[in-house]
Amino acid sequence: MKRHLLSMNDLDRHDILTILDTAESMHDVQHREVKKLPTLRGRTVVNLFFEDSTRTRSSFEIAGKWLSADVINISAKGSSTSKGESLRDTVRTVAAMGVDGFVIRHSASGAAQQVSEWVDAVVINAGDGLHEHPTQALLDAYSMRQRLGDLQGLHVALVGDLTHSRVLRSNLICLKTLGARVTVVAPPTLMPAGIETWAASEGFTTSYDLDAVLPCVDAVMMLRVQRERMSGGFFPTAREYTVGYGLTRERLRTLQKHTVICHPGPMNRGLEIAADAADAAQSLVLDQVSAGVAVRMSVLYHLFAGEGSLT
Ligand code: NCD
Repeated sequence: MKRHLLSMNDLDRHDILTILDTAESMHDVQHREVKKLPTLRGRTVVNLFFEDSTRTRSSFEIAGKWLSADVINISAKGSSTSKGESLRDTVRTVAAMGVDGFVIRHSASGAAQQVSEWVDAVVINAGDGLHEHPTQALLDAYSMRQRLGDLQGLHVALVGDLTHSRVLRSNLICLKTLGARVTVVAPPTLMPAGIETWAASEGFTTSYDLDAVLPCVDAVMMLRVQRERMSGGFFPTAREYTVGYGLTRERLRTLQKHTVICHPGPMNRGLEIAADAADAAQSLVLDQVSAGVAVRMSVLYHLFAGEGSLT
């Protein structure tokens, strides 16, 4: 395994399966009375979040704490970046205090990679602009595998605002590595530029017709309409988006019984996903959140403690 986790490309199939298997043993901690393993005692991990986050930040914090690391949270608001300090100066300042690792979320694609070049500490990418969000793809794979078994040969649809989705990019790599078949579905305005070439080289298919795809898949992942990243009008009205690309109550009925529904959150209920679908028995939304802690414990363990010292 590489030293940092910046992209899903840093992990080969063996690494991914190792992380998922370790996460399974970590998952039990959640149900214990005493939620503490001594694995990362004496290590300090800094969560450096320059973009809003509920689940990713708290999930990394819980994961670190359950492994006995000291976890510090720094967000853009309230840090010296709001006084004009550069990212480089901020991370080098914090690194000089002797921290062992950074978990970083930033609006610039490539920010985590940059940080890994500036500091000696381990760097984990928790979302960099439109680029990647590797631990999200790992927890998605974990949740799907838990419900559906081995992902080899399964058909997964990734649906929604693909242009602005780092979750899409990480999932395409992860799912391909694990042998799943992927179809991406979006309105033409939210399909990333050059998707056809990308699809041909990476071996996934594209579609503009959600109704045709839904009955054929084993898992459907709805991606959030990321209005905060949109400068113009990508679709006429919210209602039209839902009619064409929302997982509505009517579409929910067209899924096979075993098909699972994923959403990385935060959800726009009523826009890309109806409440009936989000709360359906087939929905893995809360399983994904729960898996997030276990998967991040596993990632922290493998990057910091190394092989062979699992407690
Ligand atoms: C995603 C993100 O921030 O990239 N959310 C998450 O980490 N759970 C997706 C999103 O914001 O829609």
